[in-house]
Amino acid sequence: MCGILGYLGDKPAREVILEGLHRLEYRGYDSAGLTTIGQNGITTFKCKGKVSDLEALLDGDDPRSIGIGHTRWATHGEPNDLNAHPHHDSTGKIALIHNGIIENHSALRDLLISQGRSLKTQTDTEVLVEYISSFYSDGKIPFSEAVRRALVHVVGAYGIAAVCADEPDIIVAARMGSPLVLGIGEGEMLVASDASPIIDYTRTVVYLDDGDLAVLRRDGYDIISITQNAKVTRDEKEVSLTLDQIEKGGYPHFMIKEIMEQVATIPDAMRGRLLLGQQEVVLGGVRDWADRILESNHVYLTACGTSWHAALIGGLLLEELAGIPARVEYASEFRYRKTVLDSNSTVIAISQSGETADTLAAVKKANDAGALAVGIVNAVGSSIARSTDCGIFIHAGPEIGVASTKAFTSQVTVLLLLAIYLAQKQNLPIQDLEELLLDLSTIKTKIQSILDASESLQTLARHYQNSEHFLYLGRGYQFPIALEGALKLKEISYIHAEGYPAAEMKHGPIALIDENMPVMVMALDDQTYEKVLSNIQEIKSRKGRVIAVTNRMDDELLSLADHIISVPTVHRLLYPLLTVIPLQLLAYYIAVMRDCNVDQPRNLAKSVTVE
Ligand code: M6R
Repeated sequence: MCGILGYLGDKPAREVILEGLHRLEYRGYDSAGLTTIGQNGITTFKCKGKVSDLEALLDGDDPRSIGIGHTRWATHGEPNDLNAHPHHDSTGKIALIHNGIIENHSALRDLLISQGRSLKTQTDTEVLVEYISSFYSDGKIPFSEAVRRALVHVVGAYGIAAVCADEPDIIVAARMGSPLVLGIGEGEMLVASDASPIIDYTRTVVYLDDGDLAVLRRDGYDIISITQNAKVTRDEKEVSLTLDQIEKGGYPHFMIKEIMEQVATIPDAMRGRLLLGQQEVVLGGVRDWADRILESNHVYLTACGTSWHAALIGGLLLEELAGIPARVEYASEFRYRKTVLDSNSTVIAISQSGETADTLAAVKKANDAGALAVGIVNAVGSSIARSTDCGIFIHAGPEIGVASTKAFTSQVTVLLLLAIYLAQKQNLPIQDLEELLLDLSTIKTKIQSILDASESLQTLARHYQNSEHFLYLGRGYQFPIALEGALKLKEISYIHAEGYPAAEMKHGPIALIDENMPVMVMALDDQTYEKVLSNIQEIKSRKGRVIAVTNRMDDELLSLADHIISVPTVHRLLYPLLTVIPLQLLAYYIAVMRDCNVDQPRNLAKSVTVE
């Protein structure tokens, strides 16, 4: 959730860190801070607010070439200047930045207090730095060894980077549950939560594993197992991330850039996988495991947030096309529930970041049970990508806006391919396969036509920008889209919104309907169309305001709905890829009109690496 960056080399560390923190800010943005270190000790600046607030605090030049910086998403202790990272130990020699949660912080706090040490903040991070200090004992052992010994007793999740005034030429970093990647440059080294701040300096990276402690020097690094106290080697990899992928490219926000990118990212998700001529889907990432999936007694799809909405669609597709009744569960529920997982089970984990703590824990649960773990992930090199047996990358490119958009449509695309692939493996006939594959391969033009009509969504947004509540209704494949539309609106505009299966409205939500309740109704031309029309009638009889998303323009719908959002006609299984886009756009425009921080909505963070 927080962003971590450490640099040592020949450049002014403060500048490198500030620039990098801007790139990491999407991970957490309630406070920011940095420490630089030289022969004359350590200097820290930190404050509540954004990286720009931190910049405003700094004065003069700082030529020192080693430092650590942090952007925070608060867990323990409210966002304020004091609780911002880096935290110092009581001697003032050690500074530490941390992403994660130290679960035994209370016990460690009590221990430190019983040793006569005092703590100034409520944060688990200050407890950790003071605990490290208690092992360091003013230099009786090397700093890195003090960090290692302390971490042996730490329970919880962490990605940390620390510096010590007595050893001003090293950074010590360690990982347990929170991602860290080393950047290996020429005479310079970096450590960060993700590769985005590293690529200006080097493309060679090493992803740390859980339980790794790295000692970074200008001319190299060592990785040590925290528990074994022995050197370990990790593969060096080349990152393919490019600068234009992580910049706004002329758009005012990452979110709108990413919505617009869907015209390319959906085709990217099927590139090389959809063989139109042969009417076949090939998925190299799961090819060797397909039989095991098909032989499984239980198949679970698990994820959080938007990825869970994609999982809901995936569950419907797997059952309809491949005859696999998959159970879809929130990873946060799945991980703690008593399940019947065993070596005859398959767990398909879906995650954009590949770092979501609950989803990662669900994968670990699958691994522990001997189940097959399949990852549907965007971030290559992420924890989930590395801890699953096999998987399919969605290839959506970096998603930086906190509200997930392009990752969702790519996840749905990949899940559709997986369902077709598993159906074909069993020689199951797929109705209208030719039309389905043809429409899928040409979906780009239909997406473009929705994006081209975005001006009408701005008009609609103006109309509803002051609403306090919104209801989203859909059936079948459109129910997860209703949930996703509601999530998009609430997370970036702070308008209360709920998604419901349309037929459930009369079992409760109908009580909410009056002239102030806008209801977004997904009314596609399928076997439930007439039923959905009846729902619209019910809403109108109670003076609710209906916005219908439809591919059908019949007179009855036109006369009932207050507003129509039209989408092109396509194979019925592909509508989720189209109908979600106007909902993303509407949420975006409403949030902008309400002056909300679209890319960094309050209280949220892009990658939820804590429980
Ligand atoms: O990285 P993941 O896909 O695992 O993230 C899951 C959720 O945290 C994420 O989808 C979240 O709900 C987004 N803010 C939704 O826009």
